[in-house]
Amino acid sequence: MNILFVATELAPHAKVGGLADVIAALPMALAKAGHGVSVAVPLHRGLRLSGEFRRAKLELNVPAADRLWGTRVWVGERGGVALFGIERDEYFDRPHLYGDGGADYPDSLARFNFLARAAVELARHIEPAPEVIHANDWHAALVPAHVLALGLPIRTVFTIHNLRYQGEYPAGEFASLGLPNGMFRPEGLEFYGKLNLMKGAIVMADAVTTVSPTYMKEIQTEEHGYGLHEVLQARAKNLTGILNGIDEEAWNPAKDVELKKNFRAGALKGREACRVALEQEMGLEPANGRPIFGMVTRLAREKGMDLALAGVGELVKKGGRLVLLGMGEAGLESEAKALVKKYPGRVAVRMEHHEGLARRIFGGTDFFLMPSRYEPCGLTQMYAMRYGAIPVVADTGGLHDTVEEWNPANKSGTGFLFNPSAPKALDGAVDRALALWDEPAMMNVTRRNGMKMEWGWGAAVPAYEKVYRSIDG
Ligand code: ADP
Ligand code: GLC
Repeated sequence: MNILFVATELAPHAKVGGLADVIAALPMALAKAGHGVSVAVPLHRGLRLSGEFRRAKLELNVPAADRLWGTRVWVGERGGVALFGIERDEYFDRPHLYGDGGADYPDSLARFNFLARAAVELARHIEPAPEVIHANDWHAALVPAHVLALGLPIRTVFTIHNLRYQGEYPAGEFASLGLPNGMFRPEGLEFYGKLNLMKGAIVMADAVTTVSPTYMKEIQTEEHGYGLHEVLQARAKNLTGILNGIDEEAWNPAKDVELKKNFRAGALKGREACRVALEQEMGLEPANGRPIFGMVTRLAREKGMDLALAGVGELVKKGGRLVLLGMGEAGLESEAKALVKKYPGRVAVRMEHHEGLARRIFGGTDFFLMPSRYEPCGLTQMYAMRYGAIPVVADTGGLHDTVEEWNPANKSGTGFLFNPSAPKALDGAVDRALALWDEPAMMNVTRRNGMKMEWGWGAAVPAYEKVYRSIDG
């Protein structure tokens, strides 16, 4: 089949979170399976400067705000996938993808309506023509509406990577989208008197997917539905949960050049050097036989940062160390800084986006902490396991689907899970981790169990093929 992906992120040069990793891997896996795959992204500043794209002859005429915009398209190629960068500098040539200091850019609706409309225009120019446009998250959620409005013979798939971010606007904004008035209805983009982009895509796409089977079930409940659970229930027949994979070539501790030493499940010696190097890089006191916990995360409440930060005192008291790489909400950033002051040499924090350091944390810490309140899929727990850090995670969403509680009776399992809504449950999981730490032989069994797991995209490809086929024709 011919499939056009539309998204706002593409690793490594346009990345905020896991969406970027998915868009840099799933299309390539589908291409490898023989499909004709292309990806349309905004030509963000990072992508323009990356050298991966070149300005092509193709110019699209994109209607927006009552006029036609001559829009240049930049092209590139990766792993058999055609990449298209939509150039509109006043929208996309900016220092950040979404906004400054936690707030979205005020013209987000116009930016992402433009992305959707341009991508649909692009679909009319691609040869062979895509049968399916696969739109991702709320930024690309206007794709199904534009396809329907133009009456194009193209099917649409919409993937929810995170239901909390929906793109909600006052009703009056609808008129700026260039869509027929009839679409501002309960069967379309209207939701309780407001414009809601994600809701519109859920009802108008031919099929809807999300990034893990457990999250698929959770979002149909009031607790995790963020107001859209009934809308999702109504589409249950066309809703599929497909677990994300990871790019096992790009994330391989046996070859990763960012690590001090390489290692693999059968030869763990190099990992010890990585651990010592990480202590030095982060300015930690040598852990003296005590474990190091790591976190690589957006600093957001949904990631359970408040739970993690509240638990640090206990962790340090028991001799543990914490290294945290992440940036995000201002309140959480200052709390994290306060902890470094309180526990110098035991808690170390870096607030920046640093891919190399992220890899060294996966490869140099003993345990990887992820107390998420909800987690659609989560990729970092998979990177951590592959790099030998044992995950200590909330039992929710994709974490439930990827981490199995360690069971000493039969030496099975890969980590520790706790109920994110039970008070003190995180402490319990940390205690179980510390008990494992005291048995080095068992620690290595658990570690190896995780390192041997297969997280490639192999299983997801047939699942997406099934979705595409179910809506074909
Ligand atoms: P989410 O998409 O919700 O943020 P995921 O676990 O799916 O969570 O993906 C997060 C991705 O972003 C991973 O690739 C992770 O390594 C990366 N990441 C998060 N914070 C940082 C950071 N400060 N520096 C480098 N990489 C980061
Ligand atoms: C979102 C989710 C995360 C998921 C990622 C990729 O950012 O928060 O759980 O792994 O998308 O699908």
